Amino acid sequence: FSAHAASSDDFLPCLSRAIPEQLLFTRSSPSFASVLASSVRNPRFLTPATVRPLCIVTPANASHVQAAVVCGRRHGVRLRVRSGGHDYEGLSYRSVRAEEPFAVVDLAGFRSVRVNRRAATVWVDSGATLGELYYAIAKVSGRLAFPAGMCPTVGVGGHLSGGGFGMLLRKHGLATDHVMDATLVDAKGRILDRNAMGRDVFWAIRGGGVGGSFGIVLSWQVKLVAVPPTVTVFTVERSVEQGAVDILAKWQEVAPALPDDLLVRAVVHGQVVSFQSLYLGTCDALLPVMRSRFPVLGLNRTHCNEMTWVQSVAYIYLGADATVEDILNRTAAEDAVFTKATSDYVRQAIAREVWAEIFTGWLAKPDAGLMILEPYGGKIAALPESATPFPHRSGVLYNIQYMNFWEAAGEGASQMAWVRDVYAFMEPHVTKNPRAAYGNYRDLDLGINVVAGGNITSYETGRKWGEKYYKGNFKRLAMAKAEIDPDDYFRNEQSIPPLGMCL
Ligand code: FDA
Repeated sequence: FSAHAASSDDFLPCLSRAIPEQLLFTRSSPSFASVLASSVRNPRFLTPATVRPLCIVTPANASHVQAAVVCGRRHGVRLRVRSGGHDYEGLSYRSVRAEEPFAVVDLAGFRSVRVNRRAATVWVDSGATLGELYYAIAKVSGRLAFPAGMCPTVGVGGHLSGGGFGMLLRKHGLATDHVMDATLVDAKGRILDRNAMGRDVFWAIRGGGVGGSFGIVLSWQVKLVAVPPTVTVFTVERSVEQGAVDILAKWQEVAPALPDDLLVRAVVHGQVVSFQSLYLGTCDALLPVMRSRFPVLGLNRTHCNEMTWVQSVAYIYLGADATVEDILNRTAAEDAVFTKATSDYVRQAIAREVWAEIFTGWLAKPDAGLMILEPYGGKIAALPESATPFPHRSGVLYNIQYMNFWEAAGEGASQMAWVRDVYAFMEPHVTKNPRAAYGNYRDLDLGINVVAGGNITSYETGRKWGEKYYKGNFKRLAMAKAEIDPDDYFRNEQSIPPLGMCL
């Protein structure tokens, strides 16, 4: 990559020689703005001040992706890759660095899902959504599933690049724990599979690729998991007046130690906690477990809703009236609201008095957001920290996501301040050294890369945010980056910096 070798003016002619015109959208194209906005989930990053790409490439096949990389390197233009567009900081389509010209490779049209029922495997393209993946699996078998996130519009590409967890995490772990192979376009424009990319890079892309650090993953081969024909979901709400503080204090110890077939998450909002659950079995089997392990929640038969696994995906994320077909709706991003989020991990239960203070001091504020608590334990905790880049495993009780929303541009100052202030307040009560965070809940407040000598991202500066997401695995990720992309072509504000052996 050389910014001196040629000018970005030559980039577009180079692309045009390899990619049909109808797949290229420059800033002067009439549909540039709508293509750019098509999967933007957080309108915070779609304002007149947003640093926009020079152009958007919407590849129809792998050779178009290769051409974008080759032209980009030759003519001094970096690439950002977008699959589902759900990045919390919008780094798949916008840049904080006005001085670095970039183009977007938008894989939204690159989304076939090929299920092999007999082998219980799938090849899924990065541009497919989780909803499309789940739907395709359920079409061939009601007894197979894939353990990934809850929101059906999330893109496979970004999700698998950063880990990926949802209601099956206690039984089956992370989405990336089930990746068997992948095809990657590297910074030289080559297509590499698992064998060709090598052990370290294959390890790195399974959760450590937040930010498209290692190249562009075209497709993933994943192993499916077995689910029973009937699962049970429930939501039980408890207000502070109904004892929510005590129940939540108890939940912290109970939820991560329940049988692996049962996940009970807690969404804390206002003066209410919603306990949302997926159980891999019938209501008859669930009730005795809840009565003996978590009696204080008061679960009874009227709370149970039995259905198939794929119906539970629609039910839990889109509501009781949603149909299975609704998980195919990619345009749900049209309802996008402005968001700010960040995350923490908890290894020691937070004292009841602290929870009481959180309800009275933080959740009662006028512009308060919410806290989503996902219990760990089970399969996610069974793998060693070094098995994949995602290190938050044994000993973690739960993940906290702090989130706030607002509806109009120009608003949001107090909602963002709420997230930052709660995060500061929580410091004594969560993991330390490092204070850990989940990479897929990207937050630039945790640190931004600095480009240092030799036009390469600084490893030392990257450690500030990188060790929060990856703990000790960050160094191995940086070494894998040096192996596959030593010139640091694929980079953004939170990409993995290359760490050469000689440093
Ligand atoms: P997007 O296209 O914005 O990409 C995200 C990042 O990955 C960018 O840096 C991008 O460059 C890179 N990237 C994308 N495609 C790539 C590719 N093919 N090759 C290499 N790099 C690539 N998480 C979770 O674990 N469980 C959950 O239940 C949810 N739920 C959820 C709901 C909502 C509404 C949002 C907005 C987000 C979530 N998430 C989540 C977080 C989600 O997993 C995370 O934002 C993913 O990175 C989104 O992937 P997309 O492809 O949609 O994003």
